[in-house]
Amino acid sequence: MEANRYRDYISSETMMGPNCVVILEELLNKYPLKVGTDDLVLDLGCGKGLSSLVIAKETGAKVYAVDLWITEQENWKRFSEWSIDDKVTPICEDANNLRFEERIFSAMISIDSYHYFGGEVGFFQEKILPLLKDGG
Ligand SMILES: C[S@@+](CC[C@H](N)C(=O)[O-])C[C@H]1O[C@@H](n2cnc3c(N)ncnc32)[C@H](O)[C@@H]1O
Repeated sequence: MEANRYRDYISSETMMGPNCVVILEELLNKYPLKVGTDDLVLDLGCGKGLSSLVIAKETGAKVYAVDLWITEQENWKRFSEWSIDDKVTPICEDANNLRFEERIFSAMISIDSYHYFGGEVGFFQEKILPLLKDGG
């Protein structure tokens, strides 16, 4: 994956901290995501959805873009403008109270956001891991 391919999407409006596209480039080049069009990927704490865009475009997977501070409406608007609204679904929800069925995600990513909600003992085991498919 090449971050440069997405430079038109990267702006002060869409970035909420370090450039998540560059972080994702490093991550995916080291640990390639083996997912395709039949897979669901959770982008937890997606912010403005830049990383969700990249995952959808790079893999073809359907992405649930979950964030607390950014409304569904705002991200829907952006995803429509980016023509990814058929692949990326925005959800405004607290990572502590996700309402997904268990074992539906083939992969999960969380860039520059896990530290906001993942600090409680047992958080990952109790609230996140059950959502991951076997082998995910
Ligand atoms: C620094 S931003 C990073 C956003 C995005 N991942 C990026 O790299 O551009 C941190 C994100 O964590 C999200 N966040 C914080 N607490 C959360 C929670 N309890 N549940 C879900 N998302 C949360 C915020 O809504 C915010 O968008």
